[in-house]
Amino acid sequence: MCGIVGAVAQRNIVPVLVEGLRRLEYRGYDSCGVAVLSHGEPRRARSVARVSDLDAQVKESSLAGMTGIAHTRWATHGAPVTDNAHPIFSRDTVALVHNGIIENYESLRTMLRDKGYEFVSQTDTEVIAHLIHSMYRGDLFQTVREAVKLLHGAYAIAVIHKDQPHTVVGARQGSPLVVGVGEGENFLASDALALAGSTDRFAFLEEGDVVEIALDGVKIVDRQGLPAEREVRVVAAYGGAVELGPYRHFMQKEIFEQPRAITDTIPQGDEFTANLFGENAKDVFADIDSLLILACGTSYYSGLTAKYWLESIAKIPTQVEIASEYRYRESVPNPKALVVVISQSGETADTLAALKHAQSLGHAHTLAVCNVATSAMVRQTELAFLTHAGTEIGVASTKAFTTQLVGLFVLAVTLAKLRGRVDAKQEAAYLGQLRHLPAALNSVLALEPQIIAWSEEFARKENALFLGRGLHYPIALEGALKLKEISYIHAEAYPAGELKHGPLALVTEAMPVVTVAPNDTLLEKLKSNMQEVRARGGELYVFADADTRIVSEDGIHVIRMPEHYGALSPILHVVPLQLLAYHTACARGTDVDKPRNLAKSVTVE
Ligand code: F6R
Repeated sequence: MCGIVGAVAQRNIVPVLVEGLRRLEYRGYDSCGVAVLSHGEPRRARSVARVSDLDAQVKESSLAGMTGIAHTRWATHGAPVTDNAHPIFSRDTVALVHNGIIENYESLRTMLRDKGYEFVSQTDTEVIAHLIHSMYRGDLFQTVREAVKLLHGAYAIAVIHKDQPHTVVGARQGSPLVVGVGEGENFLASDALALAGSTDRFAFLEEGDVVEIALDGVKIVDRQGLPAEREVRVVAAYGGAVELGPYRHFMQKEIFEQPRAITDTIPQGDEFTANLFGENAKDVFADIDSLLILACGTSYYSGLTAKYWLESIAKIPTQVEIASEYRYRESVPNPKALVVVISQSGETADTLAALKHAQSLGHAHTLAVCNVATSAMVRQTELAFLTHAGTEIGVASTKAFTTQLVGLFVLAVTLAKLRGRVDAKQEAAYLGQLRHLPAALNSVLALEPQIIAWSEEFARKENALFLGRGLHYPIALEGALKLKEISYIHAEAYPAGELKHGPLALVTEAMPVVTVAPNDTLLEKLKSNMQEVRARGGELYVFADADTRIVSEDGIHVIRMPEHYGALSPILHVVPLQLLAYHTACARGTDVDKPRNLAKSVTVE
């Protein structure tokens, strides 16, 4: 989604701004731009192509300046055309970039038109630029503080004014914004990753904060207008994340990083303890009688998988809901339910809103399973479990998913232990299995050449069905989502037992049916479902555990997984589905890391 970078320095800041945009490219965008104060005047370059095109433009026009802002835009209001690309100007005096959506932009536009402002874009952003221009009385910081009071909706903004040559002012409400602290220079960005090349010291702004960055310091006020201190933290972890290394795409790199990401996420000690989730987790866990999991997309599927673990291992009733549905329906709150939000980014607008909605309904106990320690979700929940996947650049989530599963499995076993449902022997066995997982994953990753051979077949298809049962049904859902989002092949997943209730009508020789076949208690039932497919001529592509005795024969292609991995088997079985989607997309020549219409970190509703 949209990305912001801003900087004040005593050197030409354009290369820093453009490099920041390059680092934010992975979030998805359809236009980009940069503006600087150059000899006291705002000047800008904008592009509806890639950041590399913008870079070429700024070099050709020798755009330079020591104070500036830049943006990648993912269109919401108005098409991705140059006039709508940010920075947006007001009367060649104010330049502004904006992430989020201003809900009352129509009434503000009417009010500003009445004052004589002309609108040249279709964006909601233009009202903020004109509003700030209309309210400016010599102090940009003060003006922004007053202007944001009139905005309804979610936003992060960065703004410059031609009369204040060494100042960038920012504000956030519902969208992230971080200050990068340098030596005699300071920065703003929507994601610390954007500034990784310039500083490793960051202050994360709170909701409602307004900030002024200057050469020699940073001034912040909170939503009440009171001076605020935000802790400056050293975050050095972003270095290698944007380097591709020997891989063709970030998605491939991230699939292969999973053994390392899981190693980093598995708890260090010799036991499952409530402390892994926060200081007062033990008291919270003793007080709850059920779980309500809220998430979107891939994170929702990790929640669906966790439900099986939570109900079978911990025997705790668990409900899993799509965040965007939960937030708008009338639910019956149970104050004894622990609300668990799952999110790679910790900034997904729907999940954040669902969390706030749950809190407003009286849910006091909340937990985030999240990959970003400084995210809004982690800050707004009572408890947190951090996955250590590292920055995920590919839009299609891979290592974030498997590390979420690790975190949720640890939650299930911890709750089971506290409820006396897991003894020391079983606990040690679970821990041993977790510790062996990275090695088991390496043997699954070694199947890549066989999966590449299948992907060449899949690349010629337009539809695919995915089947799984029980604990592996959410894995089938995740496999179908991966395939559709990056290869654009229409894919649907069903619990295999549901086939005969409708989707079997779709099965012909032209329909590949991917089957997740672990050697669990449902295997014989699954084999019957596979026969139903074969009887209709459907072509089966089966990822079968080595001990299932499913063999390749006419119309049944089998890739052999390791021996059955018990409760943790979903973490192994999802990996070949990620690889299948990845290589199918490569064979079809799609933009794997930035699939069309999609964005990383969906910060708008
Ligand atoms: C799919 C994918 C998305 C995200 C969803 C939630 O590959 O990445 O479905 O899972 O947008 O994002 P987070 O986990 O950041 O809340």
